[in-house]
Amino acid sequence: MSEKFQHIGKSLPRVDAPGKVSGETRFVTDMHLDRMVYAYPVVSPIAFGTLNSADISAARETPGFLGAWFARDIPGENQVGVILPDQPLFAENTLRFVGDAIGIVAAETEAEAISAARSIKIDATLREPLLSINASKTAVKNKIHENNIACEHRLERGDIHAGFADADEVVEADFVTPYQEHFYLEPQGCIVDPHGDEFTVYGSIQCVFYVQKAVAKVLGLPFSRVRVIQTPTGGAFGGKEDIPSEVCARAAVAAWHLQRPVKMIYRRRDDVQWTSKRHPLQMHYKVGVSKSGKLLAAEITLEENAGAYATLSSVVSYRATMQAMGPYAIPNIQVHSTAYYTNLPPTGAFRGFGSPQATFGHERMMDILADRLGMDPVEFRLKNILKPGQETQTGHALKASVGAEATLETAAKAAQWSSKYGSEDSPDGRYRSAMGVSVCHYGNCLGAAGWSMDGAGVKIQIHRDGSISVAFGLIDMGQGALTVVTQMTAAALGVDEKRIVIMPTDTSQVPDSGPSVASRNVVMTGNAIRDAAAKLNPILVEAAAEALECAPENLDIQDDKATDSKTDNSLTFNDLCEYLYVSNRPMDTLGWWHVPALTYDANTGRGEAYFTYSYATHIIKVRVDTLTGQVGVEKVWAAHDVGKVINPAGLEGQVQGGVVQGAGWAIYENFGHDNAGRITTPNLSTYLLPTAADSVDVEAFWIEDPEPLGPWGAKGIGEPAIIPTAAAIANAVSRAVGKPLNEIPLTPERVFTALEEAPIHE
Ligand code: MOS
Repeated sequence: MSEKFQHIGKSLPRVDAPGKVSGETRFVTDMHLDRMVYAYPVVSPIAFGTLNSADISAARETPGFLGAWFARDIPGENQVGVILPDQPLFAENTLRFVGDAIGIVAAETEAEAISAARSIKIDATLREPLLSINASKTAVKNKIHENNIACEHRLERGDIHAGFADADEVVEADFVTPYQEHFYLEPQGCIVDPHGDEFTVYGSIQCVFYVQKAVAKVLGLPFSRVRVIQTPTGGAFGGKEDIPSEVCARAAVAAWHLQRPVKMIYRRRDDVQWTSKRHPLQMHYKVGVSKSGKLLAAEITLEENAGAYATLSSVVSYRATMQAMGPYAIPNIQVHSTAYYTNLPPTGAFRGFGSPQATFGHERMMDILADRLGMDPVEFRLKNILKPGQETQTGHALKASVGAEATLETAAKAAQWSSKYGSEDSPDGRYRSAMGVSVCHYGNCLGAAGWSMDGAGVKIQIHRDGSISVAFGLIDMGQGALTVVTQMTAAALGVDEKRIVIMPTDTSQVPDSGPSVASRNVVMTGNAIRDAAAKLNPILVEAAAEALECAPENLDIQDDKATDSKTDNSLTFNDLCEYLYVSNRPMDTLGWWHVPALTYDANTGRGEAYFTYSYATHIIKVRVDTLTGQVGVEKVWAAHDVGKVINPAGLEGQVQGGVVQGAGWAIYENFGHDNAGRITTPNLSTYLLPTAADSVDVEAFWIEDPEPLGPWGAKGIGEPAIIPTAAAIANAVSRAVGKPLNEIPLTPERVFTALEEAPIHE
């Protein structure tokens, strides 16, 4: 193979970059359809109560007003709960958070739609809102749904009592992690285009098949009548997993009644108040270790704030439960997770899906244990790190691609950990620096709990001029999927990348590929591409042999041509495609891959929770200003086991982005609400996101320990990039300050308070 055709492991520039850089990419907000009108939701102004009535008389007087529709006007089923059926599209009796939708208004212009929606007077009887995990847990009579528990998960393996009895040290600690708002640059938005009982939906969407199902259900139509086309998506991070189902179904109700295209784009303030965020967690860890530093037993309690509806809480807390003690061998473990309903916006998917929270718990705990034992935190981790042949906490015996130890050793070596991790004062005594380490594993794809949905497809269409269209069922939300899908298709077919055009994701082009989540794109789509190529190649070979009049076994299709190895006669790929057409052969192929069956017991949580894991270690050096309590991230050494690198530049971008987003959650982002359930940080002047000015120096390292089931050996990276960051920062700050910091964000106030209480020197 010549270098030009070496597609895997090459930094192909992003195929979507020119459009985004030049401004030519058209996001849904840039689209306009004939006769299009605008819609906006009517929402609950209160956190908890009973809906009495909605008075639309003022809205009727608004210029351009076209109509308002409520629960009774929904043609199909009033339900959009993605896993549990607990969430009506429009509230009928109970209002459960500020922003709970009651109806939808349409008008000729966007401004008219928003002002008509806001003019609707909601009469409701207020109940006492439950605004925290503890309030929800202890409420005796006040129930948000039938009860206040959204979901529970358990994992039990070994005998924790025996494990604690054998332990030389048993340590307990509590950890708290906060909300995180996605703050994707492009807010939620869609256009629904009706033609009788056929609906086409365009939108900023992670999961086109979820939207198809939701719109069909709400309109009472078969799936075949709802076509969903994803528009270029300006960030999502999990925030466009389930929410677009609500957004699109609401707009679809208006489109159904009006028979005109309906556009709806959320205002930023409303987007923050109404849509999902990262689950806040309260965690209690009790862990027993031997004097020699072996983990013997863990008892872990996780409590999640689910918000007003269950949405994706069950999969987020499943993941946190299955990964609660990290990538370490531990013989005895018990984890119990409970997600509580509260009268706040529903929490849901956010990059990492419960893993950054669980990793904060186990990695702070590992540091606390190392301190207790008087051990170097890296050495302590190395004594327990998972190796091939060992079992995960769920009892899954890992056979291959277990790069945890390699990530830890690589990062520690690069950072010169052992000589430099301790705290150090600046010469003037004002600043104190230290390093922190954090290791994680991340189960690729949906896992045992979501196994039935864990398949994905791709359609490869060869044109007679030799160009190639690829349609796939997952999506690009900015992470670079279009580019790696191009590379993997070119590699699988042995052709030039320039031949390949990736089509917008469209439910009418590919089979239901499940959600674009869980870092599953490269694994799922890559394997589907290999499946399609395995079906296409025999056809191409047979056609080329016929055209070249040679034996098919001597034919090799590579480097953009088909060559007979005996005679060296060859046919260009263009000529081969033309021959394919004139000889009446199939020109397009569907590829499909499904995660293999997993052995797992949901009652005990034992078994193969996921089919494979990605691993990562972040070592982070921080500098704490003892005068102000401000934390600065000086340097990050990030080592990731990705199985195989598909695109090094894209991978590095993912890791840099993940680290910055993780640093935001750990240090700056201080999400808040008042005691009426209203978000007090709905914009960038109150919700402090890291900006380009806060970007950090990240040195990234790749461990390529190939996964036998991954395409070319690859595993997922999108989420692992953020998972270890916050714990590494908290470990570093705790070391610098000389006091355990078990709650984030590490705002100047929190760090300063810790400094005030801490001894000057350890
Ligand atoms: Mo993502 S948090 O897997 O939508």
